Amino acid sequence: MKKVSVIGAGHVGATTTYYIAEKNIADIVMVDVLEGVPQAKGLDFSQAAPLRRYGVHIHGTNNYADIAASDVVVLTAGVPRKPGMDRMDLLKINTDIVKGAAHHIAHYAPNSTLIVVSNPLDIMCMVALDASGFALKRVLGMAGILDSTRFRYFVAEKLGVAVTDVHAMVLGGHGDSMVPLPRFTTVAGIPITELLNKDEIHELVERTRKGGAEIVGYLKTGSAFYAPAASVAEMVEAVLTNEKRIIPAAAYLRGEYGYEAIYLGVPIVIGKNGVERIIELELTSEERIHLDRSAQAVKEGMDALRSFYTMAFK
Ligand code: LAC
Repeated sequence: MKKVSVIGAGHVGATTTYYIAEKNIADIVMVDVLEGVPQAKGLDFSQAAPLRRYGVHIHGTNNYADIAASDVVVLTAGVPRKPGMDRMDLLKINTDIVKGAAHHIAHYAPNSTLIVVSNPLDIMCMVALDASGFALKRVLGMAGILDSTRFRYFVAEKLGVAVTDVHAMVLGGHGDSMVPLPRFTTVAGIPITELLNKDEIHELVERTRKGGAEIVGYLKTGSAFYAPAASVAEMVEAVLTNEKRIIPAAAYLRGEYGYEAIYLGVPIVIGKNGVERIIELELTSEERIHLDRSAQAVKEGMDALRSFYTMAFK
């Protein structure tokens, strides 16, 4: 049986465990620093197994040693923004958390593929890459698939068609300047530009960009976790089955799309080695302007990171 470890047993970590369990493809270890919480949730999930019919083993622990021999590790640890904290505060706190976790992952599960979920996503991918010392292709970030599943839902809702018939592509950083691409968003093969007018598409694109914030606005004390967890589970499955699914995700770029040394959301062929291949799309000048803006926002985050964090990675 394959093995997946999920670091962080909060809403995202626990829901990710649940969705992976239901796929019946791997044993799961859930790690959290909070005493008792991963144990309780692990036991609770295990007790649901006879009814939900998964045969996998689920174990909650405070001990990183238990992640040994994982094929995939999902890193969800981090704090959400609290009142009075600015983005830099969040960046610093989560950098420490992600760095610490990445050291443990490199030590106990050195052959795993690492999927980063902690925010600010693109920057935390860089921290995880740097602190783990893993090969570039083995550290990727979950964001594009979440942003595109939101876009898919909004399009399906607008057109009154099956969500599964809608496919979407969203590029760029996981922030307000992400780049949903209507030209590459289709319903049963038909680009949405044939089915919706400019204003309608603009409205859906804007709602997608602010998709995370819309949920935070309702919840007030936290952020989304069902769609993020479903997105992670899909990526984990893509790695474990080696099906070579094409999924938008944050990858380290070395010249692709004209960017160097940053993580950015791009279409990736995902397989057992993590990032098997990055697909480079030919963009229109308008799409390029949007992607540049998004990349610039990520670069600013990288500069902020470098102001207090010395990169070991060269
Ligand atoms: C979101 C946050 C959690 O997009 O990144 O929901």
